[in-house]
Amino acid sequence: MSDVLILGGGIAGLSIARALTAGGASVTVLDRAAPGGPASRAAAGMLAPHAEFDDEDDPLRAFALAARAGWHDYAGALETETGTAIGYNASGAILIANDQAERARHIAFARRHPQEAQWLNAGEARHREPALAPDVEGALLLVHEGHVNNHLLVEALTRACANAGVRIHRTNATPIVQVEAARIARVDCDGIVWRPDVVIVAAGAWSGSIEGLPADAQIPVRPVKGEMIAVAAGTRPLRHLVWRAGTYLVGRAGLPLAIGATVEDAGFDDRLNPQSARQLFEAAKRAAPAAIGPEIVDHWCGFRPGTPDGLPAIGRGKLDNLIFATGQYRNGVLFAPSIAGLIARLILSDDDAALPAAFSPLRF
Ligand code: GLY
Repeated sequence: MSDVLILGGGIAGLSIARALTAGGASVTVLDRAAPGGPASRAAAGMLAPHAEFDDEDDPLRAFALAARAGWHDYAGALETETGTAIGYNASGAILIANDQAERARHIAFARRHPQEAQWLNAGEARHREPALAPDVEGALLLVHEGHVNNHLLVEALTRACANAGVRIHRTNATPIVQVEAARIARVDCDGIVWRPDVVIVAAGAWSGSIEGLPADAQIPVRPVKGEMIAVAAGTRPLRHLVWRAGTYLVGRAGLPLAIGATVEDAGFDDRLNPQSARQLFEAAKRAAPAAIGPEIVDHWCGFRPGTPDGLPAIGRGKLDNLIFATGQYRNGVLFAPSIAGLIARLILSDDDAALPAAFSPLRF
């Protein structure tokens, strides 16, 4: 029976805690004072692997598609277990073709993947999504893509963890790891000492600087800032996730329409740039003007956990009892159930057969 300490109580950490307790482990999560982790709250909740990985040779694409395929059952089980609706929606995504090259690419993709995608001409696109801009000449409908309300997801996971006996310690202090004989011997925080069998670092963009971890056991995770806005409702609510030229619009249950996102190497600088907000607003109006009201009602940012090769870092680290579950970059919500399953198998059954070797944190 493992005694596990998870550093990070965002969607990744809580999903892992839930999976581990289901397998009999005893789990403590160390999280910041505000529940859910900053990236988990900042996210758009997209479950959109085709849109995120449009290069069919992308090494992450297969993992992303498998992750999405697992979401339907995952959402149903979590909602049933906790009595909390999480706004899971698989109504599809509409990728507006922004130029002739994109149009040709979309049409070819729809021909190759008729189960996944459908090319819509201008009339069909507007019939499906009446809020689209009048100049839209066609769009790719990705039939299985979707989104989830990430705020409700955090609530449901927190409830599931509480029901399962996971201890969540919330703090503004920084946990300090102490290493002895090539393993983490203890973790100190707020005058409390934990001596777990296993430590999992699921601290998102903060996973690259764990206090007390020797430099050669750290991994190179860096923050990639993303600013987003939310807007007042227009006259026609969106029926799908909509993308145009790198800007996405997500209408999550119970939340104002969210529009994202910038991609910036700006460290942990959390200042908000009004010009970014304005650019997102204008880009969204070019995609679906009828869905957008006259004003921006919210503006925020988050930090995605990026790695040098763009792949996640999941699996054993350079110390005997250190495991990483980070580096999800733009897809932390999408990947969460899959990563939780992989980590639970690794810890509970010492089984890493399903863990892609390319994700190993030892590669750094
Ligand atoms: N998943 C979208 C983003 O990170 O902006």
